[in-house]
Amino acid sequence: MTFPVTRMRRLRRTPALRRLVRETRVSPDHFVYPLFVVPGSDIRRPIETMPGMFHFSVDRLVQEARSVWELGIPSILLFGLPESKDAQGSGAYAVDGIVQRAVRAVKDACPDLCVMTDICLCEYTDHGHCGVVSGGGVDNDSTLELLARTAVSHVQAGADVVAPSDMMDGRVSRIRSALDDTGFEHTAVMSYAAKYASSFYGPFREAAQSAPRFGDRRSYQMDPSNAREALREVALDIEEGADIVMVKPALAYLDIIRRVRRRFDIPVAAYNVSGEYSMILAAAHRGWVDGDLVMMETLTAIKRAGADIVITYFAKRAAELLG
Ligand code: PBG
Repeated sequence: MTFPVTRMRRLRRTPALRRLVRETRVSPDHFVYPLFVVPGSDIRRPIETMPGMFHFSVDRLVQEARSVWELGIPSILLFGLPESKDAQGSGAYAVDGIVQRAVRAVKDACPDLCVMTDICLCEYTDHGHCGVVSGGGVDNDSTLELLARTAVSHVQAGADVVAPSDMMDGRVSRIRSALDDTGFEHTAVMSYAAKYASSFYGPFREAAQSAPRFGDRRSYQMDPSNAREALREVALDIEEGADIVMVKPALAYLDIIRRVRRRFDIPVAAYNVSGEYSMILAAAHRGWVDGDLVMMETLTAIKRAGADIVITYFAKRAAELLG
């Protein structure tokens, strides 16, 4: 039946009708809010490349975590900036490392909040790569041990979910068995399964002081041209024991989110990364777009593509608007 019998505009006539037929809903229930923790006390320092985001010392992070929880957001994802860096990234797996201390303090103050931690060495290595550098490259297998130690130390501090983001081969199974061996068989792994070598991470690398000192990450992160390869990555991580798989970035990779959603029945997370966030804020700042509306449209698109979980720096603002 076509026009004039069928008129698509009938169901767009009023806000109530539009609500009734809305297919995709954005809710704070699905948000993970990333936070950056730094040494020191009473610090809440704006991150220049990411307006509205801050470096928090552990004491101020605890307050922030409480307000995130009160907004109805169930989860945070922690990134740490250590006091000092070295070739082995030892700050990543130090028992009293910055993330370990942060997790303890946040879980103490806010036990119901789901605390996830990013497992990677790049914030902790002096060369800025995500693994051990040897012979001019990043060595896969010797990195696995350090990642596993990092994961166990975060979970011992109280982390609910660990999220390896390094893109080394075999890290999910290595971390899974390290957790099982230490009695943490109930702790989940959210794998950055299809993580692309993307230029959209620019603002984050400023925030986390994690830009590589030489070269780039293309020998371990994925080539943006590849989609089938993402499905292989996801399949492997599921076999290795991932509980949640992630696609990252989100916006330029909505097709990947869709394909992963279609093929697998595991929860799919999408990381709405720093560049996606800061571009919108920059345009809004100039009055070129309405920042809140573009934010909601973006989050809707990520959900519509098939993401169950959205990791986003917009989480607090969106939760405020969703009320
Ligand atoms: C660490 C890591 C990165 C991001 C999350 N974890 C940076 C990178 O891989 O270079 C990026 C997050 C963002 O841009 O918001 N490896």
